[in-house]
Amino acid sequence: MAGRDFDTMGIHTRLAHAGNDPRDYFGFVNPPVVHASTVLFPDAATMAARSQKYTYGTRGTPTSDALAEAIDALEGSAGTIIVPSGLAAVTIPLLAFLSAGDHVLIVDSVYFPTRNFANTMLARLGIEVEYYDPHVGAGIQALMKPNTKVVFTESPASNTFEMQDIPAIAKAAHAGGAVVMMDNTWATPLYFKPLDHGVDISIHAATKYPAGHSDVLLGTVSANAECWPKLHQGFITLGCCSGPDDVYQVLRGLRTMGVRLERHQESALDIARWLETQSGVARVLHPALESHPGHALWKRDFCGSSGIFSVVLAGGGVKQAHAFLDALRIFGLGYSWGGYESLAVHVSLADRVVAKGPYEGPIIRLQIGLENVEDLKADIATGLAAATAV
Ligand SMILES: Cc1ncc(COP(=O)(O)O)c(C=O)c1O
Repeated sequence: MAGRDFDTMGIHTRLAHAGNDPRDYFGFVNPPVVHASTVLFPDAATMAARSQKYTYGTRGTPTSDALAEAIDALEGSAGTIIVPSGLAAVTIPLLAFLSAGDHVLIVDSVYFPTRNFANTMLARLGIEVEYYDPHVGAGIQALMKPNTKVVFTESPASNTFEMQDIPAIAKAAHAGGAVVMMDNTWATPLYFKPLDHGVDISIHAATKYPAGHSDVLLGTVSANAECWPKLHQGFITLGCCSGPDDVYQVLRGLRTMGVRLERHQESALDIARWLETQSGVARVLHPALESHPGHALWKRDFCGSSGIFSVVLAGGGVKQAHAFLDALRIFGLGYSWGGYESLAVHVSLADRVVAKGPYEGPIIRLQIGLENVEDLKADIATGLAAATAV
């Protein structure tokens, strides 16, 4: 589109304008929410050849195209599929790229439902699943087998925020002929662009920051030119398209994601630094903190941090964790994140097989929302006092 090439422009310009062109719909700023199964053809020949842009609701609509094109502009990808949840954004590419007899390497600090899918459904389909240490870096080469078809990464890690050396892993994986996938939900394409660092397929739970309001489930999967045909084919084969209202809500969320993320980043870092000075705290797991073991990698590859990190309480167990959580008044107790409101959850590392680490105390994951930082600190201080008093 002449005059609308936003690819070379700043990230906030892309967030504001990527996707639909208002001139396609009589100048209305936003695209229509197209509710569609059937698409009509003008004549039998067009129908037989399917020679028109839209042919069936599962294969894309102007609404899903608007979001997919906006995500492509942010990710630098050749194509994006929109699926009904972040978990579907993990399972669909794995199903599309793995076959019986293949071997898949998955980071041990992965989002638990990803592990659950691999250990149950992938294993049942005859795929050999192996977990690797998040700090493996170029050492992943030693774990590659002739039948390794996918290396799955997530950085920073779920709950414990270990950083992975993505370029080193991608190089070794490609040398062994494997496709590299990354769950990039934490950073969003604003703070890390996986395809620029050697990843082939970038995965997002758009439920989090893109949606931003804790009221929508959606996932996006973006591929480079080489992997796009296979990913798209898998998506069409599985029929996992998403409802247009949810797709629209995520496109709407994208427009403000940049300003929301700036606030999440600033507040989370302020609270993380403050937590490092508080008694009752053993450690703060936030990769943008200088004290974090993965800080150098984060600094090298990422250009920002989002609003979720963990705090390790100084000793104790479930009782201390529950006392902390039950004392909170502003933070809600809930699992999803990326919304405008603050949340806390006690996390377990019981599923880890490689990256267990020494036990220092209960781990509480905090999602820092858009509230006033001083109010959030006061709430956390109440939680810390309650945990210490047990
Ligand atoms: C890192 C990560 N990936 C994927 C998902 C799955 O997203 P959804 O809740 O939309 O299925 C989550 C959800 O918490 C997540 O934290």
